[in-house]
Amino acid sequence: MSSMILVTGGAGYIGSHTVLALKQAGYSVVVLDNLVYGHQDLVNTVLQVEFVPGDIGDRALLDQVFARYPIQAVIHFAAYAYVGESVSDPAKYYRNNVVGTLTLLEAMVQAGVNNMVFSSTCATYRVPKQVPIPEDHPRIRLIPTGLPS
Ligand SMILES: NC(=O)c1ccc[n+]([C@@H]2O[C@H](COP(=O)([O-])OP(=O)(O)OC[C@H]3O[C@@H](n4cnc5c(N)ncnc54)[C@H](O)[C@@H]3O)[C@@H](O)[C@H]2O)c1
Repeated sequence: MSSMILVTGGAGYIGSHTVLALKQAGYSVVVLDNLVYGHQDLVNTVLQVEFVPGDIGDRALLDQVFARYPIQAVIHFAAYAYVGESVSDPAKYYRNNVVGTLTLLEAMVQAGVNNMVFSSTCATYRVPKQVPIPEDHPRIRLIPTGLPS
């Protein structure tokens, strides 16, 4: 089997579009998604890629995925993405987005997979001045002053 891209959260909004773009570019893809917001039918009917149902916080499952598939890189979209809820319930977001990502990174290190694309947040653009948002659109500073950016 040729090398593959692991797309976490690939059954969700941004992840599924990325999977389609990767397929069109000729990449083999495996999606890992716990389906808390993702769509199984989308994976089966539209994306038609390898699918592993599960959570990025499940280290044993991650180890199985990296052992089973020849993964070259990870594109990471598995996260909660509601800005308002992240303020009203920060622990939920810290646990899933921060701790989950740390678990994923640790599994990658152990598997020798050193390439990750991390999907940040469009909230860095606040209300965009133009849509589609260009790469050089001004961003707000989310890191507290005094810390390295
Ligand atoms: N929507 C946007 O405009 C936008 C723009 C830039 C960046 N992003 C970022 O992209 C990422 C995905 O956003 P989205 O809008 O596609 O959200 P989404 O909810 O549509 O997709 C997230 C996917 O991740 C899955 N998921 C969540 N937690 C998981 C976990 N612990 N384990 C496995 N799967 C999990 C969900 O089931 C869902 O399918 C977020 O980090 C978000 O901040 C979104």
